[in-house]
Amino acid sequence: MCRVNPTNVVAFLTVLLFWFSSFQLTCSAREGKQWRESVAGGSHRQLEAARQHIGSSTAATTSAATSTATFNVLDYGAKGDGHTDDTKAFEATWAGACKVEASTVMVPSGSVFLVGPVSFSGPNCQPNIAFQLDGKIIAPTSSSAWGSGLLQWIEFTKLNGITIKGKGTIDGQGSVWWNDSPTFDPTAEQDPTTNETISAELKGKMPGTKPTALRFYGSNGVTVTGITIQNSPQTHLKFDDCTNVLVSDFVASSPGDSPNTDGIHLQNSQDVVISAATLACGDDCVSIQTGCSNVNIHNVKCGPGHGISIGGLGKDNTKACVSNITVRDVTIQNTLTGVRIKTWQGGSGAVKQVTFSNVQVSEVETPIMIDQFYCDKSNCKNQSSAVEVSGINYVNIRGTYTVQPVHFACSDSIPCSGVSLSTIELKPVQESHHLDGPFCWEAYGELETTTEPPISCLETEKPLKAGTQSNSESC
Ligand SMILES: *[C@@H]1O[C@H](CO)[C@@H](O)[C@H](O)[C@H]1NC(C)=O
Ligand SMILES: *[C@@H]1O[C@H](CO)[C@@H](O)[C@H](O)[C@H]1NC(C)=O
Ligand SMILES: *[C@@H]1O[C@H](CO)[C@@H](O)[C@H](O)[C@H]1NC(C)=O
Repeated sequence: MCRVNPTNVVAFLTVLLFWFSSFQLTCSAREGKQWRESVAGGSHRQLEAARQHIGSSTAATTSAATSTATFNVLDYGAKGDGHTDDTKAFEATWAGACKVEASTVMVPSGSVFLVGPVSFSGPNCQPNIAFQLDGKIIAPTSSSAWGSGLLQWIEFTKLNGITIKGKGTIDGQGSVWWNDSPTFDPTAEQDPTTNETISAELKGKMPGTKPTALRFYGSNGVTVTGITIQNSPQTHLKFDDCTNVLVSDFVASSPGDSPNTDGIHLQNSQDVVISAATLACGDDCVSIQTGCSNVNIHNVKCGPGHGISIGGLGKDNTKACVSNITVRDVTIQNTLTGVRIKTWQGGSGAVKQVTFSNVQVSEVETPIMIDQFYCDKSNCKNQSSAVEVSGINYVNIRGTYTVQPVHFACSDSIPCSGVSLSTIELKPVQESHHLDGPFCWEAYGELETTTEPPISCLETEKPLKAGTQSNSESC
């Protein structure tokens, strides 16, 4: 005998339905992306279910908006005609996108946007914002747009999860800067209002402080992929105080004789991967400065330019710390140096745990270099303290050079140690030319294999002199 109470059945079904619908809502809110994909995937039943569950519930609409919201600069008044100043439109677009988690700022293809100095600043923005850059952004070339000089043109600061992607181009139109200002001193960075910049401004010239094209500051989870940055007045792409940085399928491009145009500049940044990048510029393809660790650079093409460099470190008696840097599977062509470490006399701190492997060089002036006497002026005063350089591995470095294959100039008081070389095969670009052989000064380490040319100047390791302290512990 089985009796069913109809009231109980209704109550049970109601509970079940309620549970099911709240489950769906939680899922769609938490997994916005997956949810969107499944809807886009087009199962009619799922779509119906989604519609029913969303109904007029505000919670559901909001959760859908956080995952799909797109803010197109054209909807915020950008003209994209290459002449009208679109800076305000970009700022307004950002203000909208900033409020919505995982939103997308759309810079559409087929338009050229003239944008002045702009900061997409984030301490109060939602996380995981993307810039879909398919169009072209160009910098103003009139001096009036730059005041007395700025350190960057386009800046992203204090963001958690920021992605710049797409097929688009950022063009700094740098030639107006390269030609007219006197030799730019990169150290003037901290001091933008010198007499020189003021008088230059009066004459309608570009200010003495040249901006980096695209700079990220104080952000975590930064991705730059697909885009091209060209003709920057100074560095093309810079990361300062960032963690978890990924750069891939990236192009930096400016003429080999454009002054101080680094490709990618890293400073105080950790956990950085740079891969599949093509870097052609007038200065270092990649420049790794103090405070960087856990940097992995691979499958990069460099040249023209000054090669891949760590430093200059320790300028003006500063302390510099750089560790765990890997550079592998790179080709370097027609550059000043290949893989280089440069430190100023008088600094402190250390560079350690560095590996350069599978490096193909072609017509590089000096493929392998450590210079603890780096000086970009005509002369620097001799000082005994130095940024310590230790644990530097060179593995499988091959190709041609035009001046000298290997140059290790290390400090008398704090020599280079733990320099290891394996499978080095460097030939003069023309066999008939008589070029300098390897040079070493106070460089200690080991040859793991025979090398071409023989590097007999490398001294075998000796223990630190009694009383000498390693300054690597200070890092
Ligand atoms: C510029 O230099 C002149 C003298 O050379 C000096 O009197 C003046 O104060 C300087 N101006 C600034 C803004 O530094
Ligand atoms: C060195 O950096 C790599 C990433 O490039 C990281 O996976 C590894 O754990 C780091 N090693 C140390 C000892 O920190
Ligand atoms: C610095 O030291 C080098 C080598 O020891 C020496 O040739 C040079 O004259 C010194 N320079 C100065 C400015 O003292």
